[in-house]
Amino acid sequence: MLVLHGPNLNLLGLREPAVYGKTTLAQINESLNLSATKLQVKLTSLQSNHEGSLVDAIHNARDVHTGILINPGAYTHTSVAIRDALVAVMIPTVEIHLSNIYTREEFRHHSYIAPVAIGQISGFGADSYYLGLQALINYLKSSPVE
Ligand code: DQA
Repeated sequence: MLVLHGPNLNLLGLREPAVYGKTTLAQINESLNLSATKLQVKLTSLQSNHEGSLVDAIHNARDVHTGILINPGAYTHTSVAIRDALVAVMIPTVEIHLSNIYTREEFRHHSYIAPVAIGQISGFGADSYYLGLQALINYLKSSPVE
């Protein structure tokens, strides 16, 4: 499975800790990898601050990854390109947010990604990734790839 982290998430730990917590991206990836090993799935993680790099990573996931976990960061609220890439590759995707985007500024209430994702997990801090991984695995088990 592919885990994509969007812009500014490389600064987790330093960035607005009251909103995003003190856990760093390296720590999130490490504990997600541990969970994945227990759940017998393999993860590849990538963080990028560039929309096109995230689009490329989604394209490159074709025939390689069975599912995508994505925290698109601010691109959640702006990126038709990331949404179109997810539709194009048709890989089951779960959208992740550390913060609850619906209790924050109004511009964060709309997601371009949510309508093309299986579902969205928002507001559980670093646990959102773990919950998303569980949900994606359960989804894939119940709807096997044809
Ligand atoms: C975020 C929420 C977004 O609104 C914000 O731009 C981020 C992080 C989250 O994980 O809570 O960069 O995706």
